[in-house]
Amino acid sequence: MYKENIPEPNTLYPVPGYRNVMYVKPSITNPNIIVGDFTYFSGSDFEEQVIHHYDFYGDKLIIGKFCQIAADVTFVMNGANHQMNAPSTFPFYIFHGWKQDVPPMSELPCKGDTVIGNDVWLGQNAVIMPGVHIGNGAIIGFNSTVAHDIPPYSIAVGNPARVVRRRFDDELIALLERLCWWDLPVQEIDKLIPLLSCSDLAKVKRAIAERLGILINTDERAENR
Ligand SMILES: CC(C)(COP(=O)(O)OP(=O)(O)OC[C@H]1O[C@@H](n2cnc3c(N)ncnc32)[C@H](O)[C@@H]1OP(=O)(O)O)[C@@H](O)C(=O)NCCC(=O)NCCS
Repeated sequence: MYKENIPEPNTLYPVPGYRNVMYVKPSITNPNIIVGDFTYFSGSDFEEQVIHHYDFYGDKLIIGKFCQIAADVTFVMNGANHQMNAPSTFPFYIFHGWKQDVPPMSELPCKGDTVIGNDVWLGQNAVIMPGVHIGNGAIIGFNSTVAHDIPPYSIAVGNPARVVRRRFDDELIALLERLCWWDLPVQEIDKLIPLLSCSDLAKVKRAIAERLGILINTDERAENR
């Protein structure tokens, strides 16, 4: 199952000896759930965490690469919401015997696909509401409920989740968004690990800029915000 010293995104249980941490992509059977390489989940059945996800809606859950999805994170899909623009919210069409067909999509409160970027960390027990987009590198706090879009490289907490701070300044965020390290070949990502885990952010900026052939003001400090 494990190839010696080569990270393999199609390994279901990538932590030797543990079956409660899984790479999500190889476990997916639903074509409306699309997950990138190396995104992992602390649990044993990822699809169970995606709720109210019905084929007739056709909404998709799209998750990038290298996301870290903690235990009990829930993705609430559009089927959770009843019709709200009429006197009753009761979904007669679901139940046997009532004379209502499934309403046209335009009558249902559909907020579209849920899209999670790359290298996003979803804290334990977080709830992601329908149609939310979470940018690359964002962090969602423990027990937070995300009902609106969260910008890249920001930290959002609470219910409803609010951005408490941005992780880096604009320049470093722009450099990281251009680097898209998650799309590089595995061997190259392996070599980049010292940079990806370096907390000297001015040095990180200089190294990424050099790699991308971009001139930046080297005196400028990249500070945590
Ligand atoms: C969000 C988190 C990463 C901390 O980020 P941080 O930038 O260091 O945040 P701070 O601790 O400085 O807190 C900033 C503010 O957010 C609040 N806050 C932090 N985490 C919160 C949470 N999960 N829910 C609600 N509020 C939270 C703090 O109380 C603080 O509020 P204040 O400014 O009014 O005092 C961390 O709190 C968290 O939730 N981690 C997830 C852990 C987890 O789920 N692990 C599972 C295994 S992967």
